[in-house]
Amino acid sequence: MNLYEAMNLRKSTRRYCWEPLSEDTLKRIGAFYEEVESLFPGIRTEIGITDNLDRKHMPKGLFAVKAPYYLTVYSERKDRYAVNAGYICEQMSLYMHTLGLGSCFLGSAKLPKKKRVHDDLTFVIMMAFGKPEGILSRRSADAKRLPLQKLCTYRDEPGRMIRELLEAARLAPSAFNTQPWRFVAADGNIHIFSKKNDIDQFRMLDEFSFGTMFSHIMIAADELWLDVDLIRLENISQKDFKKSQYVLSAVVREE
Ligand SMILES: Cc1cc2nc3c(=O)[nH]c(=O)nc-3n(C[C@H](O)[C@H](O)[C@H](O)COP(=O)(O)O)c2cc1C
Repeated sequence: MNLYEAMNLRKSTRRYCWEPLSEDTLKRIGAFYEEVESLFPGIRTEIGITDNLDRKHMPKGLFAVKAPYYLTVYSERKDRYAVNAGYICEQMSLYMHTLGLGSCFLGSAKLPKKKRVHDDLTFVIMMAFGKPEGILSRRSADAKRLPLQKLCTYRDEPGRMIRELLEAARLAPSAFNTQPWRFVAADGNIHIFSKKNDIDQFRMLDEFSFGTMFSHIMIAADELWLDVDLIRLENISQKDFKKSQYVLSAVVREE
């Protein structure tokens, strides 16, 4: 199974078997992180893996999930660091799925103060993971997501490739499943907008969610052998939208 296939099957896992993972599995997760593509390579990140098999390292927080392992993600606090972290973490989550492991982002989980900084990097998010208790996968058709008709406006009839990219974006996980993105498909490209969110507390989670969605677009592009650039187009960014804000465009490069 590759990341694209996992993308169509992944769901958040909230119940786990309290079984240890093999050294080899944990090593493979670490090795995948070392090679993982980031969105902004100029932003330094680091991960840590906490073994919680003794249940002594449960994170605090209203929606925290009890799991045998936690991935903790730290990042330099540069512009758009949370988007970058989401881009990386979704690939980690999909990779875990290919190993038969479930995972769940924990945007609400809190770390004790002394653990919120690692070297000079700041804590971004935790992700629960481990062997799932029950079924790991679900069909993409069963994912609770808004239909494309609600998420996307079409300026022209999109081709099959653009539809596939949009479908991949639609499936991305978001905090509280808010799906804060909207799309405009025009001229063989996808312009991406964010529903305005004025609540500071949720802005980081929204940005992180955008990162997961961008990773879905790029994984699908890879699968389809498409050259896609995620870039801001100035002629769009200068326009003023009432309820949403322009983020960037997925521009499909011609052969
Ligand atoms: C940034 C972010 C934060 C999240 N935080 C939590 C959380 O604290 N607790 C939880 O149970 N799920 C959390 N989730 C999982 C979402 O609720 C889940 O991805 C969404 O409902 C879609 O469901 P699915 O992942 O099963 O497709 C988070 C997801 C994202 C992207």
